Amino acid sequence: MTSARLAPWVCLLVCMLSVLESESVDVTNTMVKNAVERGAVCLDGSPPVYAIDRGRGEAADNWVIYLEGGGWCATEAECLFRTTKDIGSSRRWQTEKSSLIAMLSDRKSENPYFHHWTRVYVRYCDGSSYVGDREKPFVGNNTTVYFRGARVFNAIIEDLLAQGMKSASNALLTGCSAGGLGALLQCDNFRSMLPESAKVKCAADAGFFIDGTDIYGGHLHREHFAQIVQTHESQKNLPKSCTSKMNASLCMLPQNFVADIQTPVFVVNSVYDTWQIENILMPMNKDQPAVHDQFVSCGHDMENCTCDQVVHWRCFQSEFYQALGKLNSSARNGMFINACASHCQTQKQETWYGSSISKLRDSSSGPLQGVGQAVGEWFVNDATIRMVDYKTQSPRVCEYNPEEPHWNNHYVFRGLDLLLKKFALADEIRRKARLVPQCPAQVPAYRQESYYSGLGYLVGEINQTSNWTDWFINPPRD
Ligand SMILES: *[C@@H]1O[C@H](CO)[C@@H](O)[C@H](O)[C@H]1NC(C)=O
Ligand SMILES: *[C@@H]1O[C@H](CO)[C@@H](O)[C@H](O)[C@H]1NC(C)=O
Ligand SMILES: *[C@@H]1O[C@H](CO)[C@@H](O)[C@H](O)[C@H]1NC(C)=O
Ligand SMILES: *[C@@H]1O[C@H](CO)[C@@H](O)[C@H](O)[C@H]1NC(C)=O
Ligand SMILES: *[C@@H]1O[C@H](CO)[C@@H](O)[C@H](O)[C@H]1NC(C)=O
Repeated sequence: MTSARLAPWVCLLVCMLSVLESESVDVTNTMVKNAVERGAVCLDGSPPVYAIDRGRGEAADNWVIYLEGGGWCATEAECLFRTTKDIGSSRRWQTEKSSLIAMLSDRKSENPYFHHWTRVYVRYCDGSSYVGDREKPFVGNNTTVYFRGARVFNAIIEDLLAQGMKSASNALLTGCSAGGLGALLQCDNFRSMLPESAKVKCAADAGFFIDGTDIYGGHLHREHFAQIVQTHESQKNLPKSCTSKMNASLCMLPQNFVADIQTPVFVVNSVYDTWQIENILMPMNKDQPAVHDQFVSCGHDMENCTCDQVVHWRCFQSEFYQALGKLNSSARNGMFINACASHCQTQKQETWYGSSISKLRDSSSGPLQGVGQAVGEWFVNDATIRMVDYKTQSPRVCEYNPEEPHWNNHYVFRGLDLLLKKFALADEIRRKARLVPQCPAQVPAYRQESYYSGLGYLVGEINQTSNWTDWFINPPRD
């Protein structure tokens, strides 16, 4: 990640945003039984752990399983490095507690749909999004490194079944970032492990990593994912519907398998997800450092963006919407897509529930209260939720995150209005956008509909009469 450059006005912004105070539930972690014997271990060979907070009353039979994220290790050396970190080892979590907040909060006001459910926070320690499974460990620097993400996942779920999840009425597998991707990849497997009578769904937060074109015109991120699959030997645990059609190295990319997931899925994501912008749109390419640096400068101060750079932003947005079209395979799938400069919106109270800033722009015209209600209505009441913010054309600030100040504040805030004007005015951009093969058209002119579908709330659904791709190629005229 790029290092933060804090400007004084950031402090001003902190004061402007009303950061909601929320108290967390601190829970002692549970070690998975017999994990070491089964070889279901973290990168460093320690047993995986999770934090469980039992639900109340009848809702105790409803389960939220939240998979922690934390990127991936793509090479043996990177995985070796992770054994010394909290995301490669359970050492620290065996004695320290986990804090349950936002989507895992036990307060009704903070988490109205799931607060009384049995909530489980799974600590991420395998570096593969819970799908790796390699027999042979790697030994480096006198440390043995294991690649066992899928075994870790299965061992945790079996442990939870024994802890009472075998009589679950409802179960939601979710998670953020690498954990969100894990929730998608393991969704049907999870469904198959739960009792048939249970209602089971999966929701991925910030886990919809697209196969986007980067600022060099290539796909460095695709290669990164391919390397992860290879190092962890994940191929046998990736969705068969995908591996039977294409090279398994492409099957960690949600757009290549979500349409075939049998269990209902929900995607919470920003079209300008900060991780994706930094690592998919503008990863570091050592051969072209100047291109990267110039784009960083554009990100810091959008007023400085060149026309070509603006085209990259828009192409990314367009590619994201197109990838999202795969989710429309089933009416039971849902989505909440905003344009926040954010990552992991279900893990922070201000973006999960209750803060007006996390709502879709203009969603005041509709009845939804942001991410938390969208996910809740979709799971509990089987509402049809297709909320997509097409209106915001550049990243917007929705939160203050002290860990990523450069993104959530500094990068994006300045020059936003000017950039919007640029978008609106520049015919040149539209012309250029058509010349980029991956980006056949401009992002469509704003169109957002808000109406009640009978099943649930349907806000911002795209054109009903054509498919998504068509709509991008032939945007309707307002
Ligand atoms: C092995 O340890 C040394 C000293 O701590 C370190 O410099 C080196 O990078 C490590 N090697 C790998 C592959 O992690
Ligand atoms: C590995 O362990 C051996 C024996 O304890 C020691 O001599 C060697 O320096 C260690 N190597 C590294 C890279 O730490
Ligand atoms: C699949 O992709 C990987 C990584 O890009 C590559 O090394 C491998 O040769 C490919 N396999 C086939 C059968 O094309
Ligand atoms: C933007 O451009 C101005 C004028 O050329 C320059 O002074 C400023 O440093 C640039 N900002 C960034 C973040 O590069
Ligand atoms: C999405 O799927 C529904 C049915 O599941 C269909 O009615 C609708 O037209 C589709 N929308 C698009 C844009 O493909």
